[in-house]
Amino acid sequence: MAVTVAVVGATGVVGREMLRVLEQRKFPAAKVVALASARSVGAKIPFAGGELVVREATPDAFEGVGIALMSAGAAASRQLGPEAAKRGAIVIDNSSAWRMDPDVPLVVPEVNMDAAKQRPKGIIANPNCSTIQMVVALKPLHDAARIKHIVVSTYQAASGKGHAAQLELEEQVRAVAKGESPVAKIFPAPLAMNVVMDWKAGELDYSEEELKMVNETRKIFGDDTIGVSPTTVRVPVDTGHAESVHVQFHRPMDVEEAKSLLRNAPGVRFVDGPYAPGNHPQPIQAAGTDDVFVGRVRKDLAIPGAINLFVVADNLRKGAALNAVQIAERLSL
Ligand SMILES: NC(=O)c1ccc[n+]([C@@H]2O[C@H](COP(=O)([O-])OP(=O)(O)OC[C@H]3O[C@@H](n4cnc5c(N)ncnc54)[C@H](OP(=O)(O)O)[C@@H]3O)[C@@H](O)[C@H]2O)c1
Repeated sequence: MAVTVAVVGATGVVGREMLRVLEQRKFPAAKVVALASARSVGAKIPFAGGELVVREATPDAFEGVGIALMSAGAAASRQLGPEAAKRGAIVIDNSSAWRMDPDVPLVVPEVNMDAAKQRPKGIIANPNCSTIQMVVALKPLHDAARIKHIVVSTYQAASGKGHAAQLELEEQVRAVAKGESPVAKIFPAPLAMNVVMDWKAGELDYSEEELKMVNETRKIFGDDTIGVSPTTVRVPVDTGHAESVHVQFHRPMDVEEAKSLLRNAPGVRFVDGPYAPGNHPQPIQAAGTDDVFVGRVRKDLAIPGAINLFVVADNLRKGAALNAVQIAERLSL
């Protein structure tokens, strides 16, 4: 049944991508409405050959809405998610607000779509962008040999921090090109010509982003015994997160078996061939696409039966907007 779809945070970098994805995939919506904060009321956003006029995301704005795709930050989601659900909408939320709530499924369609059937609060959470691409790549390996331990280091793009951060990196790059010093306002240090760890502190000297990778991976795979050792890093890339991933299993994984599983894995684009300079998944190739690119699949040199791989995906699409729309497509309404 075609329902009204509300995109909340429609002026943001993820919200705009959601509208693009809905249009590109010809999502069968009866109507699409664009909602954001009071600051953006009246702004016009191109959609399906016309334009949507942004309205304020108040509780009443959800009357008649069947699906609410939310990407307006955790505070707005905490307040508006239950209001939308109370009015009958299924909420698919991109923020961190609900991800670890035991009554909210945390869903990546290629991995655990069944979890979306039980949604006592009417809310489904979209995982963190770094987690989504990693679990899509690891799902076939986990099914075959059960993961024991993951060591992951990320190389995350500026757009993962929102539109203003994306513009700040552009400004910094322009400044560097003119021989000027890059100015950091949103980032805690210049990102141009640098790498930065810019997330809030979590616990035990890990950042919140690092802890999200630990907790969300366990919840999505439904296995609290999986060890995750994360280090998350921001790099001067516009869009496309990259991850170096080392995986140990409960039984030895042969590298040829891993490659064969990955070649056939849903959502994965396998980057084949032996090591050669430049022959690896790259953010510049993944940006704007739907796939999780996986390459550099190697046996670990020190730990028998362990595998190393390199995983890249568009953080705004599979890491956020696309994953949310794929969930919506697979809901039986
Ligand atoms: N960027 C990514 O790669 C990524 C990936 C996964 C998840 N996410 C999550 O997605 C959410 C949005 O991120 P973003 O990167 O798109 O940020 P962004 O570019 O800064 O956009 C934020 C959006 O939220 C809206 N907003 C803020 N406060 C609001 C309120 N009180 N009520 C209604 N709308 C409000 C803003 O509207 P105004 O324009 O009116 O201020 C804007 O549309 C965040 O929760 C983020 O953690 C982002």
